[in-house]
Amino acid sequence: MPTKLYSSILPSIIFLSLVFLFIYSTFLPLYTNNGSSSLPTEKFLPSSSSSTCNLFDGHWVLNSTKPKPFYDETCPFHRNAWNCLKNKRDNMGIINSWEWVPKDCNLERIDPWSFLGLMRNRNIGFVGDSLSENFLVSFLCILRVADGGAKKWKRKGAWRGAYFPKYNVTVAYHRAVLLANYKWKPKHSAVSAQDELKGVYRVDVDIVADEWSSIAGFYDVLVFNTGHWWGYDKFPKETPLVFYRHGRPINPPLGLLDGFQVVLENIVRHIQKEVPKNTLKFWRLQSPRHFYGGEWNQNGSCLFDRPLEEDQLDLWFDPSNNGVNKEARTLNHLIRKAVQGTDIQVLDLTHLSEFRADAHPAIWLGQKDAVSIWGQDCMHWCLPGVPDTWVDILVQLIHSSFKTG
Ligand SMILES: *[C@@H]1O[C@H](CO)[C@@H](O)[C@H](O)[C@H]1NC(C)=O
Ligand SMILES: *[C@@H]1O[C@H](CO)[C@@H](O)[C@H](O)[C@H]1NC(C)=O
Ligand SMILES: *[C@@H]1O[C@H](CO)[C@@H](O)[C@H](O)[C@H]1NC(C)=O
Repeated sequence: MPTKLYSSILPSIIFLSLVFLFIYSTFLPLYTNNGSSSLPTEKFLPSSSSSTCNLFDGHWVLNSTKPKPFYDETCPFHRNAWNCLKNKRDNMGIINSWEWVPKDCNLERIDPWSFLGLMRNRNIGFVGDSLSENFLVSFLCILRVADGGAKKWKRKGAWRGAYFPKYNVTVAYHRAVLLANYKWKPKHSAVSAQDELKGVYRVDVDIVADEWSSIAGFYDVLVFNTGHWWGYDKFPKETPLVFYRHGRPINPPLGLLDGFQVVLENIVRHIQKEVPKNTLKFWRLQSPRHFYGGEWNQNGSCLFDRPLEEDQLDLWFDPSNNGVNKEARTLNHLIRKAVQGTDIQVLDLTHLSEFRADAHPAIWLGQKDAVSIWGQDCMHWCLPGVPDTWVDILVQLIHSSFKTG
């Protein structure tokens, strides 16, 4: 009797177990993903760094025993407006006592000696706008600690950079704010005098800017960015961007965001075609701005003495709240789409930087009239400061890529 019962029930049990296992294994990954992070960042990490964790998700912890920054106001690579120690910005000690702590893993502080050792005979390039320059200055000042003979370097279209002779390493920045080629075309006098158009900026979506068109073989690591110039404050309707392809205006004309998307697609295609496979490629997402109470030219301010709380971030940055700082996430969405499926790794420094309303140069710009002329700087970052953490993250990713690759 029992055996008979078994023989009729056993197949059902096995079948049900298999069904359960199948359901479990199918849906478990979804649940753990949702549970571990509200940000869809993990799936954008390349498979080669699956052994590393998500450095972009975490929180800032005030740590008064955190090691002091590697450099001070005497670093020769500083740019005046970001040299917050020299400009006597309030709170610099506290700004540099906050430590980024990823949720599920360790963020190591860069060891400039061992990093330059790893990079011996190799070069690192940044291509993009002034936020890439901000990143570069931090990097140069940190690396200089391991090679006091570091020399300014400016070649091959580089805007600024440094050569580290002890290790034969060059780290440089190529200024190309739209990445694509663009040039000013004043209004032809014969053309309609009907409106306030002064001329246009012609953007060739299929031609990369001269400043980085011939660097493909030189760098072993490249970090791209663009975004901060894609706004109507840089290109208002009297001097708009007009997009060209194959040497002819694109018709119907593209708006700013559509133009951004088309340029991204073309630049990504160019990188995939022209930059060698074994060059490590990153695309840095937007650095968020923190203008409070108005735009940069409307007395927008960032006089904060501590980072934002996690539950304030959406208020500041979610596009649906239509605040003055909303554009970073909108652009990020298009960037992620453009690089998906390529070997370009996303360097998602946006979220961690969103917290740091307290760490911009603000009114401490080193020039008397700068604030009345330009407004506060709630866009770039004080150095030393938040970009030092960007360096730690980039370096950890480079370490793990060169180890596994
Ligand atoms: C603060 O930093 C020190 C030095 O890196 C470290 O040993 C300590 O664990 C940190 N403390 C906290 C609370 O994270
Ligand atoms: C320095 O590095 C470059 C590659 O960036 C290499 O071509 C050159 O041979 C190196 N020079 C020395 C002296 O090792
Ligand atoms: C900015 O502040 C100045 C001085 O307080 C004031 O005169 C000006 O009207 C303000 N501008 C805007 C756009 O709010």
